[in-house]
Amino acid sequence: MTYTLTTPLYYVNDRAHLGSAYTTLACDAVARHQRLRGESVMFITGCDEHGQKIQRTAEAAGLSPQAHCDLISEGYRDLWNRWQISNDRFIRTTDPRHRQLVAQFFARVEANGDVVEGRQQGWYCVACEEFKDDAPGSEDPECPIHRKPLEWRDEVNLFFRLSRYQAQIEALIRQPGFIAPASRQKEVENFVAQGLRDFSISRIDLPWGIPVPGHEGHTFYVWFDALLGYLTALLDPAEPVVLQQVLDRGWPAQLHVIGKDILRFHAVYWPAMLLSAGLPLPERVFGHGFLTREGQKMGKSLGNVLDPDVLLERCGRDAVRWYLLRDIPFGEDGDFQQQRFTDLVNNDLANTIGNLLNRTSSMARRWFADAVPPAGAAAQADHPLAVAALAAGNIVNTTLTDLDFRRAAEAALQLAIAANGYLNDQAPWKQMKLEGQESLVAADLYAVLEATRWVAVLLAPLLPELSDRMLLQLGQEPFASGPLAPACAPGSHASPWLFAQRWGLLEPGLALIEPQPVMLRLELESPL
Ligand code: MSP
Repeated sequence: MTYTLTTPLYYVNDRAHLGSAYTTLACDAVARHQRLRGESVMFITGCDEHGQKIQRTAEAAGLSPQAHCDLISEGYRDLWNRWQISNDRFIRTTDPRHRQLVAQFFARVEANGDVVEGRQQGWYCVACEEFKDDAPGSEDPECPIHRKPLEWRDEVNLFFRLSRYQAQIEALIRQPGFIAPASRQKEVENFVAQGLRDFSISRIDLPWGIPVPGHEGHTFYVWFDALLGYLTALLDPAEPVVLQQVLDRGWPAQLHVIGKDILRFHAVYWPAMLLSAGLPLPERVFGHGFLTREGQKMGKSLGNVLDPDVLLERCGRDAVRWYLLRDIPFGEDGDFQQQRFTDLVNNDLANTIGNLLNRTSSMARRWFADAVPPAGAAAQADHPLAVAALAAGNIVNTTLTDLDFRRAAEAALQLAIAANGYLNDQAPWKQMKLEGQESLVAADLYAVLEATRWVAVLLAPLLPELSDRMLLQLGQEPFASGPLAPACAPGSHASPWLFAQRWGLLEPGLALIEPQPVMLRLELESPL
């Protein structure tokens, strides 16, 4: 079975900002975790390129919409490469193959009697590309998210008969685990309880969209077409576009990760569309919180964004991944604070984890001929660090399945803290001065080195590069960039990563190379 997961398809009205990178980095950690566990993964990201917002942005830039989309989507693709995102697909909704898929999907929905003509009146936010039914009654209402005036719309267009799916959607959203975190379920329930209304799926006089087959002058509403991008992305780019084929290519998705602002589209509209087309529903929709800066949602429209390129250049991938995943509970809002960012990176990664490896390896090299010392009593599974390592491994495995990156990161960090504490308590530098203590010191250093190997293993889904550097210094095959070694036990099909979570795999006598700092301290002299 394939583990299919998606990021939202990002609007190309502007370059990516840290808010979009946040979702993508989180998905990357999930995708890596699943692959490391031995699952076959299909990780989809891409760009959402139609609609009025994009058309207007292109006009303002003096470009044709297509040229504008080419430019910005290339920027996204590039950015994900530079962040070493492990996506399997990158879908653009202007791909001609996508048009074919949309036409096939629409034909099913129409044949099912779910498309009717109707009149749409209401306040529209172009930045959200959404009607705001709950717009306050003032004369010039604003979008609460974008703080921009809403536009009055009154037009005849095609509607999707969402109202027919009331009972099925009610049952779906009540299913435990469909909407995550559970705290978001109530808000969707309240929305659905008001009664689902048919929603318009076409626009007239909007040239920058996919034409609706059989309905001259209509183009698809951008959200109708965008959600279907998840399906187009699944098809092999070399195969003919046949909608039904998605069932053999990883549909239904296990997980859609999105921001909380687009939960309704994914947890209500999208499942209803799929039901209408006779396709199975995604397993889970996870709505995460917003990254804020000074308490305001970081966004292109508000102009208070952090540029992922600047962060990459000045701070590096490991630092940003760590801060975003370790500090902000996934699901809740989080304020980006530069001081806290540098403190966490320096304390956790450079000091606690980096120095642990450095000093332990130095001592082992100095006293045990540049090699891993004999394990002695430290080989036992009841060694305190063995117990701690196993517990940390269990936490990482369960919490990552639930997208609780914070607890996973803390578990790996706690193991490093425990190993440091053990080293300080045992003080091998004192023991070494006493007669006949060598095998005791050897065992202590072995235990701490082995715990450090575990820290590196457990960090692989979250910080693939730091994990690699640590494993290389410990003479181990890395997971993240190299082939997935060390080899499994003969006959075992289990994943090398799960296999590596076994106490005592570090081989006594293995040569230790001269340690290099695995994580440089962040010294940011000016604001990001
Ligand atoms: N194009 C639609 C999604 C279509 S999916 C079929 C869209 N695009 S977006 O570019 O505006 O937003 C993409 C995602 O980025 C959303 O999930 C949104 O919540 C997220 N974020 C935008 N700003 C954000 C923050 N400041 N913080 C966290 N996530 C943010 O919506």
